[in-house]
Amino acid sequence: MLSDIQLRHFRCFDALDCEFAPGMNVFVGPNAQGKTSLLEAVCVLLRLQSPRVSKLAHAIQHGRRGFVLDGHFAQRHMQFYFSRERKKLAVDSVEQKSSLDYLDIGRVVYFANPDIELVRGMPDHRRKFLDFVAAQLDSSYRKTLRAYEKALRSRNLLLKAPRQNWREISAFNAPLIETGNAIAKARTKLVTALQPHAEIAQRAISNSAENLELQYVPGGGENFADALEKSRNEDLRLRQTSAGPHRDDLAFFLNDTASEFASEGQQRSIALSLKLAQAKLLEQRIGTPPLLLLDDIFGELDVTRRNALLQNLPAGAQQLITTTHVDWMARDAGQLFHIAGGKLTKS
Ligand SMILES: Nc1ncnc2c1ncn2[C@@H]1O[C@H](COP(=O)(O)OP(=O)(O)OP(=O)(O)O)[C@@H](O)[C@H]1O
Ligand SMILES: [Mg+2]
Repeated sequence: MLSDIQLRHFRCFDALDCEFAPGMNVFVGPNAQGKTSLLEAVCVLLRLQSPRVSKLAHAIQHGRRGFVLDGHFAQRHMQFYFSRERKKLAVDSVEQKSSLDYLDIGRVVYFANPDIELVRGMPDHRRKFLDFVAAQLDSSYRKTLRAYEKALRSRNLLLKAPRQNWREISAFNAPLIETGNAIAKARTKLVTALQPHAEIAQRAISNSAENLELQYVPGGGENFADALEKSRNEDLRLRQTSAGPHRDDLAFFLNDTASEFASEGQQRSIALSLKLAQAKLLEQRIGTPPLLLLDDIFGELDVTRRNALLQNLPAGAQQLITTTHVDWMARDAGQLFHIAGGKLTKS
């Protein structure tokens, strides 16, 4: 479990100390008091990634150079310093050159209202979700993904040059194919592994009425090397790489009907099922339940989905829950914190 966290110059927090309880921790406060920022900090400490922005620089408190996050998870001391110029990681006070061992310590599942974008939003939301889970199952995944992105950027840069030189451009095909195939393989396996858990969750949420099917749609087709070769003229014309895992998507079918036709309530249920599936899969693979971060989602859920959610979360998982009102919760539900004006008080 996460026993504590200290934030320095992170979002609205100048300095904040928090000690967590096992089980349920509830953070109550009005809007704009830092509830989401606190959960974000926990996610960044454990996964070096924000669930809400792709650039961590956004999380640096305005007017500061960088932020520091410091905490203990599973008795390991984790420290992360981030500024626009550099980042520093330490585990048990030993500086880490790579993030491999650091990222092997904690796993998280982040539930939030914008999760519905996973279903109705653009494909990049779904790729981000797959990457976030894949990196928690295999710590080398991030490195492969970064290598793919680097080769893709270089290739696209050459495609955009005023004078395109195919020999130079195609020199990036080999690294692109190698890393791209590894990513496609990892994502295929991940979607297959999520499927049974997502199906169970969806049935629980919809009271057995709905069958959910996930389908991985590879942006590099059946054979990425062939697709890359075939798209040569198109790439030269469009001045960008048109085939590859950067065009991957994940499709959802409810009772064999594509999720574009699902109601808003059904789309929310699919998004929730995906997150529950992530939690179950991480628990199954890692052997301990992940830390669950639930950002103000209970207000948006009807009673059936709220109960289905609570019943389908991995038992014994530590949970950090934010909410603006506690009326829906049992009084003895866990440790309660009030959050206001950048300060926390226990009650
Ligand atoms: N980089 C930053 N530096 C300083 N303040 C920031 C930064 N980013 C966001 N804030 C501010 O932090 C405050 C808290 O935001 P946060 O999203 O954590 O609130 P919240 O309690 O989750 O609110 P809500 O209930 O509306 O979701 C906001 O006033 C926001 O403007
Ligand atoms: Mg919030």
